[in-house]
Amino acid sequence: MKTITFHSYRGGTGKTNISLSLAECLARRGKKVCLVDFDLRAPSFGSFFEYKPSYFVNDFLAERCDVKDMLVKAEGFNDGLSLGFASPEIREIKEAMREDKRKQMKILNRILNGRDLLKDEVDYLIFDTAPGLRYSSTNVILSSDLVLLIATLDKSDLDGTKRMIEEIHEILDMPHFVIINKVPAGVSDEEVLKEVGDKLSQKVICTIQCYCEVMSLRGRETIFHQQSEHPFSRAIEEIADKIS
Ligand SMILES: Nc1ncnc2c1ncn2[C@@H]1O[C@H](COP(=O)(O)OP(=O)(O)O)[C@@H](O)[C@H]1O
Ligand SMILES: [Mg+2]
Repeated sequence: MKTITFHSYRGGTGKTNISLSLAECLARRGKKVCLVDFDLRAPSFGSFFEYKPSYFVNDFLAERCDVKDMLVKAEGFNDGLSLGFASPEIREIKEAMREDKRKQMKILNRILNGRDLLKDEVDYLIFDTAPGLRYSSTNVILSSDLVLLIATLDKSDLDGTKRMIEEIHEILDMPHFVIINKVPAGVSDEEVLKEVGDKLSQKVICTIQCYCEVMSLRGRETIFHQQSEHPFSRAIEEIADKIS
């Protein structure tokens, strides 16, 4: 099993759209995929799916259920895609925002245990996380084999991503690759690779343009699910090729 975490410095860079799409892409390729919403402060899978989970990721972390109880099998994938939802309840969101060190150590253990229980049955465990420097994100990063950092070309985003890589990803010594999303039309791949290469000295595994069609779905569906030939979807296939 390979564990992949999507992370970013800022919110809104495309983690959820790209992680959902990559999970679906790998599942369509016949892999067993488990995608978990670890953005416990701003849960988002509920906008994309109508499933009503019996247990949330929060229940698993608080030892109110086992890892498999929090997973919902997505329809249409022959059991190939399972989803872990974060609780949208305000009480749970507030609880998740407590950056208590002791509690977070317990959570790290819980994630590592859950990961071990899934490892013989799952090919890819994918975490969608909260942006920035937070215990919750650091915990899943520590539990991963690979971190995919999603950034845009905004100066503040690239500057912040650079600091974050130096302060977290390099110190934790986790393999990490950068994906540049929402590239404005007319900016060539070469320009992006040069700009990001100069600034971050990181390997960029994919660049994705900004597409109005993605925005027009209003966070209810991914363009990957809807249009397999869309350039966004082809970029997802490229990411899947590179990480598998
Ligand atoms: N390549 C893209 N082109 C245009 N809009 C995008 C693209 N990728 C993501 N978006 C939009 O950006 C917003 C934030 O995306 P989301 O996946 O929720 O980011 P995050 O999970 O990092 O906060 C959403 O409205 C989404 O539709
Ligand atoms: Mg998100």
